[in-house]
Amino acid sequence: MDWCVEVEGLHKSYETLSPGERVYFKNDNAPTHFISVIYWSLLRKRVLIEVLRDITLRVRKGELFGILGPNGSGKTTLLRILAGLTPPTKGKIRVFGEETDWRQLYKFTNYIPGALVGGGWMLHTLSAYENLKIRARLFNVPEERIKEVMNLLGITKFGDKPVGTYSSGMLARLEVAAAFLKDAPIILLDEPTAGFSPEVEREFHEHLKNIAKNEGKTIIYATHMLHFAETFFDRIAILKRGEIVDIGRPQELKERLGTSSTIEIVIIPKNPTAIVALRDKSKLRLDRPFVVERMGEHRYKLRVSCRETEETLMKLISTVIERGFLIRHIVIREPTLEDYYLSLIEGWKLEIN
Ligand SMILES: Nc1ncnc2c1ncn2[C@@H]1O[C@H](COP(=O)(O)OP(=O)(O)O)[C@@H](O)[C@H]1O
Ligand SMILES: [Mg+2]
Repeated sequence: MDWCVEVEGLHKSYETLSPGERVYFKNDNAPTHFISVIYWSLLRKRVLIEVLRDITLRVRKGELFGILGPNGSGKTTLLRILAGLTPPTKGKIRVFGEETDWRQLYKFTNYIPGALVGGGWMLHTLSAYENLKIRARLFNVPEERIKEVMNLLGITKFGDKPVGTYSSGMLARLEVAAAFLKDAPIILLDEPTAGFSPEVEREFHEHLKNIAKNEGKTIIYATHMLHFAETFFDRIAILKRGEIVDIGRPQELKERLGTSSTIEIVIIPKNPTAIVALRDKSKLRLDRPFVVERMGEHRYKLRVSCRETEETLMKLISTVIERGFLIRHIVIREPTLEDYYLSLIEGWKLEIN
C-alpha cells in the first residue's frame, strides 16, 4: 500500500502552570497586593496536560484526509507536529515508509494555518505580487510559482494593487498564498478558509482536489465545516479531547449511525422549568439519543436520529408538548455526517431501535 504518512502511538503533553489560588487581603493596597501576587506565583505548580493521546492513523499518497473535532481537541497540535513545528512527546512518524525524526518533517510538508489576522508581515505600499516576490526570494522559490499561487487563490485580478487597499478577505487569501509558495508533497491545512468569500472558498477547494488527484499531493485538512467535509474528503478522522474516536470514509461514518432519518424539531419553552429540562437532558426523558442546539433567544433545536420515523415523530411531539414547549418547526431528512459527528462529540450513544 502506498502510505504517505503513518502515525503510530503519538502522544503530546504540554507543561503549563496550574492556575493556583490568589490570596486576597482585606486591605488591598499596593504592598499587600504585591505580596499576594508573589505568594500566588510561588504556589503555582508545573502540571502536564495531555493534548494528544495515542494517535494512530495512516494517510495514502494523493488522499484528501480530513481532521474534524471541536475546539481544543488537538487538531492544530497534530498538524504542527506533522509540520515539524513542535515535538511529539512519544510515538513514531513514517513518511513514505521511512521513520522520520520530527525535526525532518518540515522537508516533506507545507503547513498552511488559517489567516485570522491578515497582512501583518506585508509591506502595505507594495502590491501582492511584490510582497510574494520578497518572500519567494527569501526561500528560493522560482518566479513561476508566484504566478501559480496567485491564480490558485484568485489574487491575480488585484495582484498589482497596493496591499494597503485590500479588504480583510483579500488579505486572508494573500496570507494563504504566501504559505503556498513552498512546494511540498504533503500539504497540512489548518482551517485555512477563514475570511474567504464562499465562491473563493469553493474555487480553492476545487483546486486542492485537483492537486491531490492530478499531482498526487497528500492533503491533511483540519476543519469545522461538516457539511463540506461530507463531500470533500476521501477519509476523515474525528478527534475528541486528544483521541481519535473514529476514522473512515464519510459514507461509512454516516452509516454507522444505523438510522434511516433524522428529525429536527425547533421548540420554544413556555416556562422556565421547560428550559431546566433542556439543560439537564436526563430530565427531558426522551428514550432516544438526541442533541440539543440553541438557535437563538428562547429557541432550541432537537435532533433525533431514528429508524421508525413516524413512531418516533409522534413520541417526540407528545414529549416536548408535555414538557412545556411549543413546536415551531419540524423537518425530517436523511442523516448527515454532522448527525454522526454530534452523536460522538456530545457523547450520546448510537441509536438502536
Ligand atoms: N503551547 C501550548 N501550551 C499549553 N497548552 C497548549 C499549547 N498549545 C495548545 N495547547 C492546548 O492544547 C489543546 C489542544 O489545542 P489545539 O491543538 O489548538 O486544538 P484545536 O486546534 O483542535 O482547537 C487545548 O486545550 C490547548 O489549550
Ligand atoms: Mg486549531
